[in-house]
Amino acid sequence: MENNAELVKQRYGNPFEGVRSALDRAASHGYDSLTDDDLFMCKWLGLYTHRHEKGFFMLRTKQPNGFVTSEQLETIADIAEQQNKGFADLTTRQDFQLHWIHYADALGILKRLESVGISTQGACGDVLRNVVGCPVAGVDRTEAFDASPIAKQISDFFLGNPDYADLPRKYKISVSGCREQCVHPEIQCVSLVAIERKADGSTELGFDLRVGGGLSTQPFLGKRLNAFVKPDEALEVVTHITDIWRETPEYRQKRHHARFKFLIHDWGLEKFRQALEERLGRKLDGAPSDVQDPSDVYRDHVGVHAQKQPGLYYIGAPVLVGRITAQQMKAVADICRRYGDGNTIRLTNRQNLVLLNVPESNVSRALDVLSQAGLSMNAHPVRRSMVTCTGTEFCKLAITETKMRSREIVEYLEQRVALDEPLRLHITGCPNACAQ
Ligand code: HEM
Ligand code: SF4
Repeated sequence: MENNAELVKQRYGNPFEGVRSALDRAASHGYDSLTDDDLFMCKWLGLYTHRHEKGFFMLRTKQPNGFVTSEQLETIADIAEQQNKGFADLTTRQDFQLHWIHYADALGILKRLESVGISTQGACGDVLRNVVGCPVAGVDRTEAFDASPIAKQISDFFLGNPDYADLPRKYKISVSGCREQCVHPEIQCVSLVAIERKADGSTELGFDLRVGGGLSTQPFLGKRLNAFVKPDEALEVVTHITDIWRETPEYRQKRHHARFKFLIHDWGLEKFRQALEERLGRKLDGAPSDVQDPSDVYRDHVGVHAQKQPGLYYIGAPVLVGRITAQQMKAVADICRRYGDGNTIRLTNRQNLVLLNVPESNVSRALDVLSQAGLSMNAHPVRRSMVTCTGTEFCKLAITETKMRSREIVEYLEQRVALDEPLRLHITGCPNACAQ
């Protein structure tokens, strides 16, 4: 087989256990005891080698639906402060990315994260990546329904599941109830978008199923399969879709063609639907045709918004290029404890963060402290909307530097250009389009 990655995966066995024992060995025998196979499979625990510095990794966490507690945020801040260079990046799949992880510290850091409920299993590698969902699920006044329990259910089923640790390639799912479709369902391998179906005078809530989206050098927008999926069918449907993908060997032949979007493109919707129905043992219900496209350009939940719970607000704070310092993370956790409900923070796929459940009487104080921490709400639209990938600073595939350049662009535009219409800027360091 010309695809070496498949051979590595076959001989490596369970990556979640294998990488741990390799890191354990390296802590006493040195970095060079890590084999090429170990370094390739490290991704399954969220670890990518740095572009420049031998012996250092970047580490990506998994925050299903972007959920973060104050304790988790403080732990990330502590690790960033004590063992890295004092910052973390917020990612386009609602995760944290830490840099400067020394190989000898990696296992200890993984354990520290696990002690506060953060997993890195499958944050990278040929697996289901973080399940993304609307960061204001459950509090958004206009959402169709709170889809976060379904996102969590799907995430829990696949997390660290050895039966799904060897997919042909990375695989991405969104589950959301938000009318603005903030999770960008159009670029996911599989997306469940909440909709309402009206029949016989009653309204039923469920999901519109889209398949085959994805970016990179050959982008495709996800296509509607004309399937209405009830919330209690979601895991079953997603599992069967994943089984089709896992068990179609053609997509293991060539790594650059090993993406679910190519299967959908090659097969077409009819053939795929039939295959899915065969596995389900029943026909899929048709979906309503009048699904609304989002109206907001930013689709980001930035700003102060009243929640569906009377008297409570959520505050979406822009984090420039997603880079957040340890002090800022601690400030946000502190604001959450003092002015919010103490525990509920969410990350967005636009590399910003949201504080939930802030009583009206606390909003202005929370805003003041956020502003003092450099996370002001009075931001120029490009500060709010700038999304930036990792770039040459750490990424081995990068052609250009990104974070610094994006920061300079924002600062330049802030001083010179007053926008009279919305503008979104996404800067990626190569055609893979990790900044979407
Ligand atoms: C062939 C290689 C790669 C491709 C095609 C690719 C493509 C993508 C795409 C399209 C996204 C968009 C986010 C989304 O899925 O919703 C993404 C996310 C991301 N990419 Fe890449 N990427 C590649 C390699 C890398 C590398 C080498 C790095 C850095 C070392 C990187 C860093 C990231 C990060 C931090 C995210 C956010 C992911 C998360 O939180 O789960 N990517 N990637
Ligand atoms: S877009 Fe390219 S440069 Fe940027 S993180 Fe992804 S692979 Fe690296």
